[in-house]
Amino acid sequence: MTTIKNVAVVGGSGNVGKPIVAGLLAAGFNVTALTRESSSSTFPDGVKVKKVDYESVDSIKEALQGQDAVVSAAATIAVGKQYPIVDAAVAAGVKRFIPSEFGINTRTVSSQGLKTILQGKIKALDYIIEKSKANPDFTWSGVTTGLFFDWGFRTSGLGFNKDTKSVGIVDSGNTPYFASNLPFIGKAVAAILANPDKTANQYLSVASFTVSQNKLLKIVEEESGAKWTTKPVKSPDLVKAGDEKLSKGDFSAFRDFLQAYLFADGGDSTKGVELANGLLGLQEEDPRPTIKAFLEGKL
Ligand SMILES: NC(=O)c1ccc[n+]([C@@H]2O[C@H](COP(=O)([O-])OP(=O)(O)OC[C@H]3O[C@@H](n4cnc5c(N)ncnc54)[C@H](OP(=O)(O)O)[C@@H]3O)[C@@H](O)[C@H]2O)c1
Repeated sequence: MTTIKNVAVVGGSGNVGKPIVAGLLAAGFNVTALTRESSSSTFPDGVKVKKVDYESVDSIKEALQGQDAVVSAAATIAVGKQYPIVDAAVAAGVKRFIPSEFGINTRTVSSQGLKTILQGKIKALDYIIEKSKANPDFTWSGVTTGLFFDWGFRTSGLGFNKDTKSVGIVDSGNTPYFASNLPFIGKAVAAILANPDKTANQYLSVASFTVSQNKLLKIVEEESGAKWTTKPVKSPDLVKAGDEKLSKGDFSAFRDFLQAYLFADGGDSTKGVELANGLLGLQEEDPRPTIKAFLEGKL
């Protein structure tokens, strides 16, 4: 039976890194944060901090001595730079690697635009799987979480504009999709590492809940006590806009492709997906408290 106790987190100061560190600490893991030499990130009490040069396998390997697992929550821009971290983890005898995924399922995504933009993640996980096959004691878990729900409301209102009480609704607005609050993702990562044998070499889908644009609109209207204006958006227009942006090297196309992929009629990304929530002992959450906090400006 594998036991994981010491966990190194890459990007533990970031949007999802922070709640992952919190989730690991709450579950009793010993947490070491790896951070860039140039970084001014700070970490909670109880976290050991090691500055590393992410381009040097030796530097990372030294920092990973005695670590059982590495969780990478590296910034999107840095997902293509995880190779030296993987090499160092293998060399240091790390047992489990969780790469920086935490989004839509990059193993099954069918949108050509998203596949193109997500190549950094896809190739990094391909590399990890290859390394694991060659070194069976080095295992991996991939985690797809759907949209970051609380973060999405905090940063962009998830498309809901509080000031104008309006929202763009793609196609019918009825297509279900997965979403997760950040603390839930922290709990999920901790649960994966607490159950290493059950979660080895698997790509796991977790989600706080399954929602749709119209389900959210209903809650938003109930909680704000007002009728909101909806602006119709057609999913083929989103794909067209994404293609145009991508052809000019503009990666903000991601948002257009993502909305089309998640929200379009006939494109149900939850279909046939068995969530690992039960396997990991995670309770489904209620989207309402996050929406309430968003409307009250408390997110
Ligand atoms: N599902 C969703 O809705 C959603 C939303 C956002 C992000 N994500 C995914 O979640 C993962 C983490 O994203 P995030 O938004 O949490 O990351 P983030 O906050 O932008 O950055 C995480 C950490 O990465 C390190 N970092 C920043 N720039 C770097 C660089 N150029 N090179 C190396 N390290 C760098 C920093 O840590 P130090 O300063 O300590 O080194 C930073 O705190 C990504 O895979 C991203 O695609 C998913």
